[in-house]
Amino acid sequence: MAPFKTDSAAGEGKLPRHIAIILDGNGRWARKRALPRTAGHAAGAETFRRIATYCRDIGIDYLTVYAFSTENWKRPREEVDAIMGLLGKYLREAVDTMERDHIRLKILGDPSILPESLRGLIDETADISTHYSGFQANVCLNYGGRDEIVRAAMRYAEDYKAGRAGALTEESFSGYMFSAGIPDPDLIIRPGGEMRLSNFLMWESAYSELVFTDVLWPDFTSADIDAAIEEYRRRDRRFGGIKK
Ligand code: IPE
Ligand code: IPE
Ligand code: MG
Repeated sequence: MAPFKTDSAAGEGKLPRHIAIILDGNGRWARKRALPRTAGHAAGAETFRRIATYCRDIGIDYLTVYAFSTENWKRPREEVDAIMGLLGKYLREAVDTMERDHIRLKILGDPSILPESLRGLIDETADISTHYSGFQANVCLNYGGRDEIVRAAMRYAEDYKAGRAGALTEESFSGYMFSAGIPDPDLIIRPGGEMRLSNFLMWESAYSELVFTDVLWPDFTSADIDAAIEEYRRRDRRFGGIKK
């Protein structure tokens, strides 16, 4: 694990093990600059690169980002194509750099309707990721929290019918999610000013601490991560119990 930075908020006290971020505000960022929305997505992709590196460097174990939802297909074709193009570019770079940087990368969501080229890259990154332990970035792509739960239920039902599944418990059901094996997010951050989850990690967010900020995703910096971690540390996580 990378050493904690001592000159930032991440230097003192307990760190969240898993941070999840809803990457929101790209379109508004572009509009403010009279640029096309796609320019906002390109800027947002750069921000992801910076923030993922920062999270790894301060010793976060998992970073999960919401990049494209099952509802985002409603957007104009050219915007969807531009986002898919950026994701392809990012994944191609990741294939080249993750071995060097020892980063695991997992895509969460249903890949079946994604462009063929993206599916190939997803398989490649998954393959490389099996070589390492350590920091893991998860990118939610064609991801919907409700879709994830329905798929898990269907897969469990199939296994049950085939005699492969035991009793259904919260723990065993978690094993059918895209997020199987990943601890639940301790902290979910939503930049962009909206105070909703928009179908993100419906199952996994049961006891996550939520932090909302007006900063638009392309403007998000390591100082905003520090501020969210500081806020997280002020929270009293009781999980239904009482304060110790
Ligand atoms: C987030 O930014 C990126 C995706 C949802 C793909 P938006 O594109 O939603 O940006 P705003 O909310 O319109 O500003
Ligand atoms: C949530 O952002 C989805 C992603 C960031 C991928 P949206 O911009 O799609 O959410 P709404 O429409 O404001 O709820
Ligand atoms: Mg949005």
